[in-house]
Amino acid sequence: MDIRRHPPAAQDRPLTILGLETSCDETAAALLRLHPGGRGEILCDRIYSQISEHAPFGGVVPEIAARKHVEILDGLIVDALREADLGFGDLDAVAATAGPGLVGGVMVGLMAGKGIALAHDLPFLAVNHLEGHALSPKLASDLAFPYLLLLVSGGHTQLLSVEGVGDYTRLGSTIDDAAGEAFDKCAKMLGLGYPGGPAVEAAARRGDAARFSLPRPLWRKIGCDFSFAGLKGAVHRVWHGLDTPTPKDAADLAASFQAALGDVLVDRTTNALKLFKARHGPRTFVVAGGVAANAVLRARLEALAAEHGFAFTAPPPHLCTDNAAMIAYAGGLKWRAHGADGLDAPARPRWPLDEAAASMHPASGSGKKGPKS
Ligand code: KG4
Ligand code: ZN
Repeated sequence: MDIRRHPPAAQDRPLTILGLETSCDETAAALLRLHPGGRGEILCDRIYSQISEHAPFGGVVPEIAARKHVEILDGLIVDALREADLGFGDLDAVAATAGPGLVGGVMVGLMAGKGIALAHDLPFLAVNHLEGHALSPKLASDLAFPYLLLLVSGGHTQLLSVEGVGDYTRLGSTIDDAAGEAFDKCAKMLGLGYPGGPAVEAAARRGDAARFSLPRPLWRKIGCDFSFAGLKGAVHRVWHGLDTPTPKDAADLAASFQAALGDVLVDRTTNALKLFKARHGPRTFVVAGGVAANAVLRARLEALAAEHGFAFTAPPPHLCTDNAAMIAYAGGLKWRAHGADGLDAPARPRWPLDEAAASMHPASGSGKKGPKS
């Protein structure tokens, strides 16, 4: 076996890891020091957001995203090293997102990471983007395993029991759209702009959530899966059924949509809290992803956690949304526990964290950013 694929020889020294993230519309490079006890120290965390490139289209355009990663990534890596005052010779390993996500973008980061690993004879770590999100709450605090995670972003909506490095049980995930994607599409229909989440939240503050009656998909059904397509379709029908929609109509519909989506999150999460509690007792409930920035939804989830005796936390926004520090961190923990990957590691547009659950739900996990589970 290639010596570079072994876990690091000395487990008791800090490891300096370059992380790369290109699976969606953020181009990111970070340098992280992983300390022996598992603490992650971010030396530099660079993110180039492509929002302005995709805004005219009301969503992420895969081809544009991949081209932009090609243009931006190399310079971002050089800048990150300069900011951290490090050279390639100071690195212990290189980690890059290998999936799931938009495959054109994934390949850009993956090839850049492999190229650096090859040129500098470093171990290469092919990281599952979802594992990056799942472990990111530990980067910011001394949260212990196991914990329950709700990951809600533009690309993912999943409930995971995070039990250890490489040890995840997916309790549920969306069977159609991701929650953030539903926000973005709703905002686009109502002419509120992109990204849609903050725009819908702002409009909803002025609206009457009781005015329109909208469906709550999978409400009170067993299990922890989510569905938002029917809700999105209902918003479309209501909006186009209005004669000449006014800003007040848009605000009322945004508020009604946000309330319905919140009911779905609360209902599905309730089932997950019960399942998790039966197995591990009440622990910590973590919410991460761009949608966790929504103050109304966050307050509802926090209250729900308290109702079930769980502590509640959400990583700071810069670690909640896509970033490369979480990729370096997950890569480092994985390297220490299970060893590194070969330079033949494939790009995986679909890559469930919990293969057993995914094979029982082959349809789940689509999203605007491609199938994310
Ligand atoms: O985690 P993120 O930055 O990127 C990925 O999707 O991976 O999440 C972005 C998503 C977008 O769909 C955006 O509309 C949504 O998070 N979002 C929100 C809010 N802020 C961002 N959704 C609801 N309310 C918000 N305040
Ligand atoms: Zn993500």
